[in-house]
Amino acid sequence: MSEIVRGVIAKAKGAPVSIEDIVIPDPGPGEVKVKIAACGVCHTDLHYREGAINDQFPYLLGHEAAGFVDLVGEGVTEVQAGDYVILNWRAVCGDCRACRRGRPWYCFNTHNADAKMTLVDGTQLSPALGIGAFADKTLVAAGQCTKVDRRAPAQVAGLLGCGVMAGLGAAINTGNVSHGDTVAVIGCGGVGDAAIAGARLAGASTIIAVDIDDHKLELAREFGATHTINSNNRDAVKGIQEFTNGFGADVVIDAVGRPETYEAAFYGRDLAGTVVLVGVPDPTMRLDLPLIDVFGRGGSLKSSWYGDCLPSRDFPMLIDLYLQGRLPLDRFVSEEIELDNVEAAFEKMHRGEVLRSVVVL
Ligand SMILES: NC(=O)c1ccc[n+]([C@@H]2O[C@H](COP(=O)([O-])OP(=O)(O)OC[C@H]3O[C@@H](n4cnc5c(N)ncnc54)[C@H](O)[C@@H]3O)[C@@H](O)[C@H]2O)c1
Ligand SMILES: [Zn+2]
Ligand SMILES: [Zn+2]
Repeated sequence: MSEIVRGVIAKAKGAPVSIEDIVIPDPGPGEVKVKIAACGVCHTDLHYREGAINDQFPYLLGHEAAGFVDLVGEGVTEVQAGDYVILNWRAVCGDCRACRRGRPWYCFNTHNADAKMTLVDGTQLSPALGIGAFADKTLVAAGQCTKVDRRAPAQVAGLLGCGVMAGLGAAINTGNVSHGDTVAVIGCGGVGDAAIAGARLAGASTIIAVDIDDHKLELAREFGATHTINSNNRDAVKGIQEFTNGFGADVVIDAVGRPETYEAAFYGRDLAGTVVLVGVPDPTMRLDLPLIDVFGRGGSLKSSWYGDCLPSRDFPMLIDLYLQGRLPLDRFVSEEIELDNVEAAFEKMHRGEVLRSVVVL
């Protein structure tokens, strides 16, 4: 039997979101209905609402969530009703060329539920990142559910579903930060601060935070930054060099994603160092670098999608670290809000006032 619940819908480009009744069909084969407990507000939800991802309105927003399995479809063996899960947007296929080579975190054929959630008039909804979790319940593929320790509160656990995982993974997985490395992180929002926390976990000896907002730099220190640079007042590259004996950092993470921040990351790293781009540029942006510098400085230039995470490997491990007090996931939660405050949360995010607003259901 299908079920009617509330969901936060973006109906048209740029229009404020609204709460609507939505119809959740029963899970089909390989699908799972999940009762949402909490869902963080991510920049990507705002990108959807602004029509910057694609034009498949109406969207059911929300994708950074944790909750409880409500009902499973035929053939689902990974989870059962009552399980506590974090939702992910990387349900790996096991069969594409990346998966077959043992690199499932690059899976090129990830999947979502086939059955469609709709408005009550039958209009099909596009769930954000194949999730759609600003809702009492949602429908996903079984592989999008990762079981974790239920002692971690949902408003904290859900954060691993997107931005925080992207930042942690940019440092740990993509940047491969290890003991004694020097690291710089440009842009200290939720993603950048998670990269800082990841660099600390991995044993970096120096962690330099770069932002244009002093309040963000203070928060970055709480996540583990050892030095800070306000790049409005001071050249980021010179600052990074100064804090690394004149050399530059081993790993520089760009968590903004603009040509000028990427260029600072490129020149702020040591010879043979690594640049990780985790901030998402807009499609009009271009980069102009002397090719001789790309060659001459060596090292590697990488991008990080979802922190190159493998949810089944990384989520339970990171929740365990949180429960042991080694990863301060709760510090990312700036405020807990109701479902009807998502629009206001977008505005706060836009003004840079929050790391994460989290809808608690
Ligand atoms: N790669 C992925 O899988 C993935 C996942 C989630 C989010 N993201 C992207 O990561 C980026 C950061 O997300 P967020 O949630 O942390 O955003 P945010 O808006 O909370 O944080 C951005 C931070 O960058 C700072 N900043 C802006 N311009 C700057 C500049 N020129 N120099 C230095 N600092 C600057 C801001 O002051 C702010 O503190 C976004 O582009 C987002 O879309 C990527
Ligand atoms: Zn695959
Ligand atoms: Zn997101």
